[in-house]
Amino acid sequence: MEEFKNKNILVVGGAGFVGSNLVKIILNDNPDVRVNVVDNLLSSERENLPIDDRLNFIEGSITDENVLGQIEDNLDYIFHLATYHGNQSSIHDPLADHANNTLTTLKLFDWVKNFQNITKLVYSSAGCSVAKKTFDTAVPTIEDNPIELKQDSPYSISKIIGEFYSVYYFNQHKLPTVRARFQNVYGPGEILGAGKWRGTPATVWRNVTPTFIYKALNNMQLPLENDGIATRDFIFVEDICRGLIACALHGTPGDVYNLASSVETSIRQLAEMINEISGNTAGFEHLPKRPWDNSGKRFASGEKSRTQLGFQAKIDIRTGLETTINWTKDNLDIINKNIDKHKDKMGK
Ligand SMILES: NC(=O)c1ccc[n+]([C@@H]2O[C@H](COP(=O)([O-])OP(=O)(O)OC[C@H]3O[C@@H](n4cnc5c(N)ncnc54)[C@H](O)[C@@H]3O)[C@@H](O)[C@H]2O)c1
Repeated sequence: MEEFKNKNILVVGGAGFVGSNLVKIILNDNPDVRVNVVDNLLSSERENLPIDDRLNFIEGSITDENVLGQIEDNLDYIFHLATYHGNQSSIHDPLADHANNTLTTLKLFDWVKNFQNITKLVYSSAGCSVAKKTFDTAVPTIEDNPIELKQDSPYSISKIIGEFYSVYYFNQHKLPTVRARFQNVYGPGEILGAGKWRGTPATVWRNVTPTFIYKALNNMQLPLENDGIATRDFIFVEDICRGLIACALHGTPGDVYNLASSVETSIRQLAEMINEISGNTAGFEHLPKRPWDNSGKRFASGEKSRTQLGFQAKIDIRTGLETTINWTKDNLDIINKNIDKHKDKMGK
């Protein structure tokens, strides 16, 4: 479907995992589209993006005046996906998080606030910012959940500040922001070690799913913190991209939508599935709970996005993991190249 026929789109953070998948889907579905990407390649690689005449890549930070100066008032849609990846990097360096996760949002919104043609600006928020910090039985997080002051990381604080600015710029300047609250995304295109060193081994082991898959394919034990009792809502990357597009096309300006599978999966179940699909017999390495992570058990309600956006995640976790494992097998060379970039700094 040509949802973006003759449209001019900006994707900030578009070289990243989700961003590059989104850019590819938009280019693939819309022969007559122009896509602009701004990315400073802090946690991504230029190679994530295709070579395409319809794609204009600007390398640099969206906080840089010279970069902003290249963003003209001729945009129809903006997807703001830039972040300082991720929780542990932000704990290590809160100022870097601020520069790339909070200031990015503020500078972008302030620059485009008087643009005339923007139909929608979609902001990528994070479910962790609003989820209850509990290891008790999870109830589905709804969009109206109260926001707690107690946040686990500067990353999580920055994501929710972005929501505050989304609402503020909509109310004050009629900037048509729509907030998309992501659950845990996994899938092809998430490259361990992509981008620059961000102070801790989490630069490489950036998320649980790609870490488990890489280790399983190398017949290594999977690191299980706190016996893997924490639960998450895993959503396949193609689903999240379709959800972002639904937010752009059907979201109400000023409003917020969960993008979720609404299926609760424990980290232990995830690890068992990955070992089984990949044939890894090395089992688990049992580790203590991460001290900062109090967001124990959670998943999100997809009811509002289903009824109001017409969006529902389609890919079940087993199918999604099989696809991701196959993609990882086919891309081990590039993943190893990116992991090796950091090996001098990784310690053991
Ligand atoms: N992946 C998930 O599970 C998940 C969950 C919740 C929310 N999110 C949000 O979704 C968005 C995309 O996440 P992702 O997983 O693709 O992460 P990612 O790290 O792969 O992508 C983020 C991109 O932002 C770029 N970036 C960083 N600082 C920038 C700056 N100053 N200017 C321009 N670009 C900059 C990075 O280089 C990277 O390409 C993020 O906003 C993230 O907070 C993701």
